[in-house]
Amino acid sequence: MSDPEIEFRREGPAAERVEARVNLAAIERNCARLRTELTHGAALCAVVKANGYGHGAVQSARAALAGGASWLAVSGARELRELREAGLREVRVLVMGPLTPVELGETLAVGGEVVVWNEAYLQAVAAAGGGRVHVKFDSGMGRLGTRDPEQAGEVADLAATLGGIELAGAMTHFATADELDDKGFFAEQLASFTSWARRVSERHPGVIVHAGNSAAMLREVNAQFDMVRCGIAVYGMDPFGRDPALRGLEPALELGSYVAEVKPCVAGESAGYGRRFVAEHDTFLGVIPVGYGDGWRRSLSNNADVLIGGERHPLVGTVSMDSITVDLGPDPGAAGRLRGARAILIGIQGSQRITAEEVARRLDTINYEVTCALTPRVPRVYHRDGSPGHGAQTAAQAPAGGR
Ligand SMILES: Cc1ncc(COP(=O)(O)O)c(C=O)c1O
Repeated sequence: MSDPEIEFRREGPAAERVEARVNLAAIERNCARLRTELTHGAALCAVVKANGYGHGAVQSARAALAGGASWLAVSGARELRELREAGLREVRVLVMGPLTPVELGETLAVGGEVVVWNEAYLQAVAAAGGGRVHVKFDSGMGRLGTRDPEQAGEVADLAATLGGIELAGAMTHFATADELDDKGFFAEQLASFTSWARRVSERHPGVIVHAGNSAAMLREVNAQFDMVRCGIAVYGMDPFGRDPALRGLEPALELGSYVAEVKPCVAGESAGYGRRFVAEHDTFLGVIPVGYGDGWRRSLSNNADVLIGGERHPLVGTVSMDSITVDLGPDPGAAGRLRGARAILIGIQGSQRITAEEVARRLDTINYEVTCALTPRVPRVYHRDGSPGHGAQTAAQAPAGGR
């Protein structure tokens, strides 16, 4: 679903009350960068579930493919349909989540490759029309997949012989790849998957072995196998929650709004629901039209900075559904000049930078959740390093996938 083009302007105030500007060139470069880590020639599968981690699934997918990804992954049938309907018909897409019988039929009908983990589900895939399957061994995540390597092997054997089914892949998912201090659990999972996958590959040559997400592939070359499934790093965020620049990743998303009003707030006056901010001294407040209805979470009340005029200004008071207030300081001239100025919630302004990782730390969560939380009300405006991109989309693309 796309709306009429929203003009992309590199400088100056935003065209809308709040926008997520997505740099597709950054996604492309992140993929190219990730590929340089693939020392054994593994394929890069770009994970574009949950509306491309909030960036827009179709646009992100196209940029990732241009940057060298050769597969895509989503969570469910609806997400696959969106890609296919947008014209991404030939690319191999792994649908990683469990599927209802209806979803299975839809997925297989448009060539989606599904994850199977037991005989009954495999038979359901065959009954729904058959297609390519990837057998999942639960090496420690404790979600989909059997923990029994024998049983997982038997599912693979059956997949290889069942009419209409093609055994395409053997996979697992790591629970602690992003936790460097995981007491050896990642290494244990890797060892157990490696020996299982070796047996499957011996019995079924040509099967694509895959396990690593962004953290795993950056952390351990032996987790790369034949393919890696990367999401967070594709969007230029750091899987370990650190500064993405340290790994040469470029955040693709900027969240911006503007100062809609500047008003005095004398000592003792308050701002926002619940009077959670009461001015200790005379100051000026900026009112910015972004709120939890846009995904700027209420827990950021009195707990975030906003870049305005090249400087950090503290968010003061409670985050409302549609607006926040920031403290612009006591100088009437300086505050007045900021009326109408661009306000950056995630991104760079002057020498200042606010990353999704910083916002995540304040919320005691992970960067994934920060961008996934941006609601359909926030238009995604695409560009390539500041040049107008491929229009905007304002609608939700899909329900969020699991992580
Ligand atoms: C099964 C599976 N593989 C790969 C990924 C991509 O992980 P990341 O975004 O950490 O690279 C996910 C995301 O949650 C996933 O669920």
